[in-house]
Amino acid sequence: MSAPFDPAPFRARRARVLKHMQQNGGGVALIATAPERMRNRETAYPYRFDSYFHYLTGFAEPQATLVLIADANPRSILFCREKNVERETWEGFHYGPEAAAAQFAFDEAHACTELAERLPALISGGQPLWCAFGHEDEATAFDALHAALIAVRQNARAGWCAPATLHDIRHLLDEMRLIKDEAERTLMRRAGVIARDAHIRAMRATRPGRYEYEIEAELLHAFRAAGATGPAYTNIVASGANACTLHYTANDRQMHAGELLLIDAGCELEGYASDITRTFPVSGRFSAAQRAVYELVLAMQQAAAAATRPGASFDAPHEAAVDTLIDGLRALKLLSGSREEIVETKSWQRFYMHRTGHWLGRDVHDVGAYRPHDKPRTLAVGMTLTIEPGCYIRAAADIDPAFHDIGIRIEDDALVTADGCQLYTADTPKTVAEIETLMQSAQATS
Ligand code: GLY
Ligand code: MN
Ligand code: MN
Repeated sequence: MSAPFDPAPFRARRARVLKHMQQNGGGVALIATAPERMRNRETAYPYRFDSYFHYLTGFAEPQATLVLIADANPRSILFCREKNVERETWEGFHYGPEAAAAQFAFDEAHACTELAERLPALISGGQPLWCAFGHEDEATAFDALHAALIAVRQNARAGWCAPATLHDIRHLLDEMRLIKDEAERTLMRRAGVIARDAHIRAMRATRPGRYEYEIEAELLHAFRAAGATGPAYTNIVASGANACTLHYTANDRQMHAGELLLIDAGCELEGYASDITRTFPVSGRFSAAQRAVYELVLAMQQAAAAATRPGASFDAPHEAAVDTLIDGLRALKLLSGSREEIVETKSWQRFYMHRTGHWLGRDVHDVGAYRPHDKPRTLAVGMTLTIEPGCYIRAAADIDPAFHDIGIRIEDDALVTADGCQLYTADTPKTVAEIETLMQSAQATS
């Protein structure tokens, strides 16, 4: 059973937003959750709330909007679906305004059908408006806002005054979301543990002759059985040459002895993502060439992790990984020329064409500017990011056939700490010895 809901972290985040608004002219903020999306006729996709909305509320139902009022009496108001017992027969429990206000610690709550009616008066004092402009999930709120702005202007003679200042609230929310609070760190670690266990289950199930989708099924089973919502993104289960296709998701090929299997899979837990990649031999034992490239990618990850610390630039881990890669590719005779020539011509990009990480949080590629004020972001305690170097060697006439179709990525999730970073998913089997031991014991007992 999951722990009882604690509104405290959400209320604390709303208080921070209100304080920031008050320090910047006050005003009214409007943050809507995501719409329900139809999959096809009469069938909807599983519902996923908007990340900004859920960050501030913890409220997971659709058709909801948060309104924050930053005046002398700062308060938060939820608009949500009315309690409707008949509808619940079809759709399951929903709170209704009264219970939602009590459970989620809002100062007020009303039916979502009242938003359009109440909004004009709420924004009629000429105070600034705070919204997420151009965010697709805000469409419903913007319909109400558009009508409210017209209504305010039409009531000018009654003393109503339309807002003169518009703020994009994401500038604030993105900065807040970049530094994870304790509640977020706890959830992200738990999402990491579930993904770790799913990867172990997938490794144990892998053997020659099985199909990629059979292994994907093991991952999905592990996620749901542990209470996660499901995958945080479409999982990649890529064997042989498929591992060199970075966004491969067909997951429908039969796997053979002698090949590698790359699995990029993470789950979503209470709105937070994990994102782990492991690469291992289908038969349980690396070939000499596979092992050499694997050790190189592992060294890239170690170099990147060592460069991930407060005060370092967001680019530092990537630069450290690329430095290690260049030395390794020269040693393996996969690249020729001097180090300087390789750096100058960027010939290494033939084998490594993505960056070494991204912010991780509610969204697997989480919010937060990478180059605020046109300079790389400085890492700070509480930021969470992936460290995911790779090396992808497609078959080609100028490449030793022993290296053909070796696609390797090793990805862990990192929390920036006071003295560096903690790779909190690193206990997913990762060294050659750990992987070979686990897989051979699994294959011996099957
Ligand atoms: N799984 C998505 C990524 O690694 O960026
Ligand atoms: Mn990633
Ligand atoms: Mn990934």
